[in-house]
Amino acid sequence: MLLYPNPQTRQKNLSPDGFERRVWTANDVYPGPIIRANKGDKIFVNVTNCFGEPASIHWHGLTQKETNWYDGAPGFTQCPIPNDVSLVYDFSTYGQSGTYWWHSHYLTQYVDGLRGTLIIHDPDDPYLKSYDEEYVITLSDWYHDNSSTLLSDRMAPGYEGFDPIPDSGLISGKGRYDCSAAPKDSKCTPNAPLATYKFKKGRRYRLRLINTSTEYLFTFSIDEHKLKIIETDGEYVEPYTVEKIPINIGQRYSVIVEANQAIDNYWIRATMNKECVNSNNFTININSAINYEVVGILKYEGAKNDEPTTKESNEQHDRCKDLSTKFLIPLNAKPAPEPVHKIITLNTTAITNEKNVTVFTVNGKSFSPDFQNPTLQRILNGEDPNTFPDDQVTFVYDEPNGVIEVILINNGNGTHPFHMHGHNFFVLGSGDGTEVVKSELNYKNPTIRDTVTLPAMSWTVIRYVADNPGVWAFHCHIEWHVEMGFVAQLIESPTELAKRQPPKDWSSLCSK
Ligand code: C2O
Repeated sequence: MLLYPNPQTRQKNLSPDGFERRVWTANDVYPGPIIRANKGDKIFVNVTNCFGEPASIHWHGLTQKETNWYDGAPGFTQCPIPNDVSLVYDFSTYGQSGTYWWHSHYLTQYVDGLRGTLIIHDPDDPYLKSYDEEYVITLSDWYHDNSSTLLSDRMAPGYEGFDPIPDSGLISGKGRYDCSAAPKDSKCTPNAPLATYKFKKGRRYRLRLINTSTEYLFTFSIDEHKLKIIETDGEYVEPYTVEKIPINIGQRYSVIVEANQAIDNYWIRATMNKECVNSNNFTININSAINYEVVGILKYEGAKNDEPTTKESNEQHDRCKDLSTKFLIPLNAKPAPEPVHKIITLNTTAITNEKNVTVFTVNGKSFSPDFQNPTLQRILNGEDPNTFPDDQVTFVYDEPNGVIEVILINNGNGTHPFHMHGHNFFVLGSGDGTEVVKSELNYKNPTIRDTVTLPAMSWTVIRYVADNPGVWAFHCHIEWHVEMGFVAQLIESPTELAKRQPPKDWSSLCSK
């Protein structure tokens, strides 16, 4: 598969929600193309960068065993791909299957459009006989201004506002902006088409839900239909039926929906939960307390061409938290790995730094990657990571297959989706306050995923097995917060890693 931005025009003008803006596209489309593979496949993606600026692609949720250099995180595992240069990302899916996505990991580039999905089909899918068809549904917030402008406003000294507030939201790249609010000199077409999914009465559909946002977590529901959850972040789970799912940035769920209602049109709803993202030290904008609902349409074959008139389910749920780990039990449940060889505690908070800019810190330090001198390259060059200066939050663990427990403490008033590269992990539990309550932890059959929500003023305990030598970013997936330093770096088995031979095209990126 060839994934390339439009070679003639560095960016393309598109109007996903009716409002025209420049969008960073892959193969000319937003959202980018769906990459499909089968379990066990090797994937080659030739990324030709024609943006006029550096780029990179990260494969969110893929563990990149043996191929740390293709993880796509500039400053951690590669130098960014310069303009007019191609890189073939070449990696195996090993035993992984399920719902993933890809996105630029270079600055805030994915906010402007460079993101898409990656599906690994599984011939041995235990649920294969439980559905007839499938759809991929991406959710995202959407901005009309370029992310670089929004970011520099956000990072201006003395700025005391909220993170940039999105202008609208999209379901699978489609939304509907109220053009009466558009500036005079802009192009805006009212009543933009909504994402529409066709159902046939009596059939069963697997919906692969992915939150690809910059800032917001969503609650997803379909009027008058139940959602049977069967997958969390690539891991099959025992069926668990709900009417609404909170889904945070980077997370994925597969749900099975039965077309068992009257032939009609039904609203698909994805609500941005603004009340969850207010942060420490930020003045709360009154408007930001109003949730923004993005809609799409579920259309039964034979239904009229009218818009739905259905009502939202009144199921109550906690909008700012993940569904309880008690209900997301892996189908192949395993006990939490033991014994624990190392405990890492990450304390996160927002602070105003010496330049009067609000940044995020992890254990008191704010991360800024050195794009042209990535950690992986330094290790391959023989540097000892234990001697790296102590100004970044870096954890080095050099024993094979050790069990690492991470205690995440969120000391702020905002909710953060925390994502680990290179691994999925066991979520033992979480709770309010900043003291871990051991009796709340599930050691028997914990949820497995790669992105977990840290609600405001809360703790979460996870574990993973250090079986994947590499340099792995571990960060809040609110893209503004990444740029504000909300990142830690895990260096796993550096001695083993240093013995590896990186591919030539990868090495040459740093000399260009
Ligand atoms: Cu989708 Cu580093 O993340």
